[in-house]
Amino acid sequence: MTIDWPALRAAAQDAARSAYAPYSRLQVGAAGHAKRAGEAGEGRIVVGCNVENASFGLTLCAECGLVSALHASGGGTLTAVSVVAVRGDGEADGAPLVPCGRCRQLLMEAGGPGLLLDADGGPRELAALLPDAFTGSDLPARREHHDG
Ligand code: THU
Repeated sequence: MTIDWPALRAAAQDAARSAYAPYSRLQVGAAGHAKRAGEAGEGRIVVGCNVENASFGLTLCAECGLVSALHASGGGTLTAVSVVAVRGDGEADGAPLVPCGRCRQLLMEAGGPGLLLDADGGPRELAALLPDAFTGSDLPARREHHDG
């Protein structure tokens, strides 16, 4: 599978322009290739942007919107994701942003350890950014331990 990283990054930059970020003035966009089981090619592109709130802790990261859009548009798995930041004052650089810790966990569920993330030095696997991740497969193992 060939990933058109410049196109994916451009989609993320477009999404960032829709961000609602009046407090941080950091507009973040995320774009990912999404594939359903058995689907050929690179799949469709889904996007998200950050949405802030006067109650700061309620802010939704761009990756939250991306994962919601993934499911709202038919589901599947993310295979490649670009997250970029632009500045609300118009001095946008649009360079890749390393997802925050919570969003690495969200992306792990939506894409798995092999998910490729856009980075300045070239794509990086999510497994390298979130090693020894807690996933759904940990739940039954721990539950059985407690029930027994
Ligand atoms: N932000 C994201 O959208 N994704 C990240 O992975 C890191 C941070 C947003 C949240 C907030 O609106 C702004 O960037 C500044 O932290």
